[in-house]
Amino acid sequence: MCGIVGYVGKNNAVPVILSGLYKLEYRGYDSAGIAVIENEALKVIKTKGRIKDLDEKIRSYGEINTNCAIGHTRWATHGAPSDVNSHPHISKNGRIAIVHNGIIENFLELREMLEAKGFEFVSQTDTEVVAHLFELNYKGNALEALQDTTKQLRGSYAIGVVTADAPSEIVCARKDNPLIIGIGEGENILGSDIPAIIGTTKNYIILNDNETARVTCEGVEVYNALGDNVSKEIHVVDWDISAAEKGGYEHFMMKEICEQAKAVKDTLSPRITKLLPNMSETKLSPEMFKNVRNIHIVACGSALYAGLVGKHIIEKLARIPCLANVASEFRYNDPIIDENDLCIVVSQSGETADTLAAMREAKKRGAKTLAIVNVVGSSAAREADSVLYTWAGPEIAVATTKAYSAQLSAMYLVAVYAAMSKGILTEEMAMGYCKEIMDLPELIDEVIKTREQVQYLASIYSNRSSTFFIGRGIDYAAAQEASLKLKEISYVHSEAYAAGELKHGTISLIEDGTLVVALANDDDVYEKTLSNIKSVKARGANVILVTNKNVTADPEICDHVIKIPKTIAELSASLSIVPMQLLAYYIGVYRGCDIDMPRNLAKSVTVE
Ligand code: G6P
Repeated sequence: MCGIVGYVGKNNAVPVILSGLYKLEYRGYDSAGIAVIENEALKVIKTKGRIKDLDEKIRSYGEINTNCAIGHTRWATHGAPSDVNSHPHISKNGRIAIVHNGIIENFLELREMLEAKGFEFVSQTDTEVVAHLFELNYKGNALEALQDTTKQLRGSYAIGVVTADAPSEIVCARKDNPLIIGIGEGENILGSDIPAIIGTTKNYIILNDNETARVTCEGVEVYNALGDNVSKEIHVVDWDISAAEKGGYEHFMMKEICEQAKAVKDTLSPRITKLLPNMSETKLSPEMFKNVRNIHIVACGSALYAGLVGKHIIEKLARIPCLANVASEFRYNDPIIDENDLCIVVSQSGETADTLAAMREAKKRGAKTLAIVNVVGSSAAREADSVLYTWAGPEIAVATTKAYSAQLSAMYLVAVYAAMSKGILTEEMAMGYCKEIMDLPELIDEVIKTREQVQYLASIYSNRSSTFFIGRGIDYAAAQEASLKLKEISYVHSEAYAAGELKHGTISLIEDGTLVVALANDDDVYEKTLSNIKSVKARGANVILVTNKNVTADPEICDHVIKIPKTIAELSASLSIVPMQLLAYYIGVYRGCDIDMPRNLAKSVTVE
């Protein structure tokens, strides 16, 4: 989703902003722009399309030398992707430029008020009202104008502003949209996330909701909602810029698929001591699980599907009723949740608007909250009562792979810990589970060896227009993530079905050549799944069976077998998902899709 970079400092700001915007591409966008102050005049260059298009457009203007600029990637919400709707937006007097992430909910009413005062609008965006409102409030002090402006805004925003009057100053504000400020030496940089600033500095502060800041070469001043100067903790990025680069891989997605064993290991290792879960770094306590009535998992997209696996294992091991909820539905459904319940939010970014809103609703109703989140210091991490970080490192491809795998690992830990807390698992039994969990990284590396076989299968089936993923129990949960991956990366229509449910209607869609991918890794229901597979095979489907059983292709059952290593059924999604990610990847490659930045998608969805 939209991204912001702003730089003021000793170097030419243009290459710094462009490099930051390239780093933000992964968030998803459809247009981009930059505003610079050169010789005390404001210049805005923007375009629909990619950063490279912006880069070329900037070059066509000749050399620009400036020490202060802001840049933006836009993911269209109000108004189609176009040059004119791209950010930055400029005020009526042409001396103020602003970039904005989020949604201004009262923009229509502000627009009417501003039009009545003679302001003219050129775009369809909600953001343009902020530029004009800022001008209306501006009395010579940009920070004060921004503070007055934000008081009149409803909705969510991260805002960066430059003015021609103060050519070496950026002012910025945040509410419900991420914004960090990198602290350098003689240079400071704001950005939507770490990859945007890491080329300049590893030290950064996190702006909180309703805070505003003035950023100059000399320093950064931050103010709270009351206008009081506040001091901020300086965080240090603990990974290197190379972690956010492709490192020889053609796509980030493949790099991240191959990094999964490490992501899982890094997530597990600090939390398993003497083969038992060690939650000392979180605020989780055995009491929390002993007395909990229900667990509500809330999340979106792949994080929700990780939550579905979590639901299975928590219910199986800890016998606590557990619901996995679509976050965007949760808070509008008058959820039955109170102080007797635990809400677990799962999120890679920790900034997904629907997930945050659901967590806030759960908190409001008295529930305790646990965030399983990848981005350190993100909103979910800061607002939850306890945090369990997934140590997947930076994930750049829009379609998640390693963060999903790390989320599964965190879920396993919670399940074992909850079951021990409730006295359902003895120490010895818990150690047995932890042993299996600790073996996963090695097994994940093993299953990545199916890569060539999967590539071959993708070459055969990349032309199919519809695919079904079926399974039972945990396999069904994994099938849902497998199906989402294929849709995201290759734009092939696909559906995930509980294998036993297919016969109640959807089997009518199976015809000669329909691709069905069947996941069957749970001994208890293996035979039942086989019967379901036979019924699609009999109707002409081409079947790929993903299983840990020693079976070979059989004309009555399946055309191909992808053999994965054996683990206990509850953990099998960690292994079965890997060839599914590879299948989506290679089908996407064969279909010529934009693997790391699929159309219409955003990495972090910060609007409802
Ligand atoms: C977007 C991404 C998905 C992701 C979902 C939730 O839709 O494209 O890959 O699963 O958001 O994101 P989160 O950061 O909360 O895990």
